[in-house]
Amino acid sequence: MTVEPSTGRGSAPPAEFIGPSRIMTTLRVNGHDHFTVLEPRTSLLDALREHLHLTGTKKGCDQGGCGACTVWIDNRRVLACLTLALAAEGREVTTIEGVADGDELHPVQQAFLAADGFQCGYCTPGQIMSAIKCVEEGHAGSESEIAEWMSGNICRCAAYQNIREAVCGGRDAMARKDGELP
Ligand code: FES
Ligand code: FES
Repeated sequence: MTVEPSTGRGSAPPAEFIGPSRIMTTLRVNGHDHFTVLEPRTSLLDALREHLHLTGTKKGCDQGGCGACTVWIDNRRVLACLTLALAAEGREVTTIEGVADGDELHPVQQAFLAADGFQCGYCTPGQIMSAIKCVEEGHAGSESEIAEWMSGNICRCAAYQNIREAVCGGRDAMARKDGELP
């Protein structure tokens, strides 16, 4: 007996289609709400760069190994390439575009300029986002401590000495701003 292939007519309905349908979401970045439509698999890094056009956050390895994509979520440093954009919904995201106070650079940004803390500059946004938190966390007491607590931020130009000097300068400038140093 010959069995004809099923045409689907009269058979069970197809299983429910579950993705990757795009989802409407709102991301709060640098104090502003951004409405966007994303595939659920979209990383926060791709959402920032490709959807919100905030390209200051850099894509180095896209697998958690370089720190170029460091941003803050609710004031804590995270790797945007390892974070799903949808996981940031309802939370406060800060990128390098959001750390200056209007035209006034953040003290750590100024310190990177003063110490020449970069060469190609590709890692610099991530270095600065990490450095500010390194200081605020109280992990910038010495160059060796800075090296340890910023070890996730790789610089392929190997500008580490200048980066550590910049973090020290930024630490002292932040303390002066807060009135903790003369
Ligand atoms: S791009 Fe995220 S850690 Fe390298
Ligand atoms: S300055 Fe070039 S990668 Fe760090």
